[in-house]
Amino acid sequence: MSLSQKSIAGQSFISVSDLSDQDILEVFKRARHFKKLTDKNRPFTEAFDIDASQFLNSFLLFEEPSTRTRISFEIASQKLGVYPIVISNIKSSSMMKGETVEQTLATLACFKPAFIVLRYKLSIAPSKKLNFPIVNAGFGSYEHPTQALLDAFTIQEAKGDLQGKKVLIVGDVLHSRVSNSNLKLLKHLGAKVAFCSPSSLFPQGDLWKDVQEFKNLDEGIKWADVLMCLRIQEERHNMNIGLSIAEYRDYYHLGAKQLEIFSKKGIIMHPGPYVFGVEIGQEVLQDPRNLILKQVENGVYVRAALLSILLNYKWKD
Ligand code: CP
Repeated sequence: MSLSQKSIAGQSFISVSDLSDQDILEVFKRARHFKKLTDKNRPFTEAFDIDASQFLNSFLLFEEPSTRTRISFEIASQKLGVYPIVISNIKSSSMMKGETVEQTLATLACFKPAFIVLRYKLSIAPSKKLNFPIVNAGFGSYEHPTQALLDAFTIQEAKGDLQGKKVLIVGDVLHSRVSNSNLKLLKHLGAKVAFCSPSSLFPQGDLWKDVQEFKNLDEGIKWADVLMCLRIQEERHNMNIGLSIAEYRDYYHLGAKQLEIFSKKGIIMHPGPYVFGVEIGQEVLQDPRNLILKQVENGVYVRAALLSILLNYKWKD
């Protein structure tokens, strides 16, 4: 898949396709630097040539529940010197009185934010009239592009270059915005992506039409360098998936037996939230190949890296 030819600096970030190759390299470079600054307990702003006396604020508008994404964006914004205002209880906003998301964004624009981070049940194209970036923090089943960036960063940290790495996505791919964004980004970075899921939860559309499918989880696990497990996203199901949770567990669960046949050098990922006893077993937590909490930590560095580019922060000489 081809990405953008121009930098995302100053622009909205809705899809992985909005990134240029240079943007991806720059996100990873800045994220690595932020990780080092965190180890030294230093603010991220010290990396940049910015006016420390300016006062900026951002809005984090979350119409769906979130823990990892919301908090990592909140911390990332703070660490970049941008005061975040979180609207995560939609019941307390005028969206409850019938205001649309577009009207809400136009209203928030009057407060002149540096950017708005948005999680929403549908995919939206932000109005061109908004003169600040909108960042997709998860749009329905469409895309979750910052999750893909932090996943690619985590794989690269653990395994080096993504070229030729084999990534197996397991579970409810049909409803997963994470897997759509990951497929685009990981393939672009040279990884081989395959999936294993019940036929009722097969991904749809052109994006997935040539993607390798494993009918048998054990065969997929033996093939993979990276296992990416997914939760059953029941909140988005508008049909019966044709198998019970117990049957799903029989075929798509990562537990002790599956860990045994997985490459000793492999890594296990999950965007979260995860449901023990369904897609993964408690054994995964004790397994040194499990990078699930590393993904959460990296979310702060990667999201701050992306935001610093959107904000046009330039490196100090
Ligand atoms: N991965 C992810 O989006 O998690 P949250 O829903 O907790 O933000």
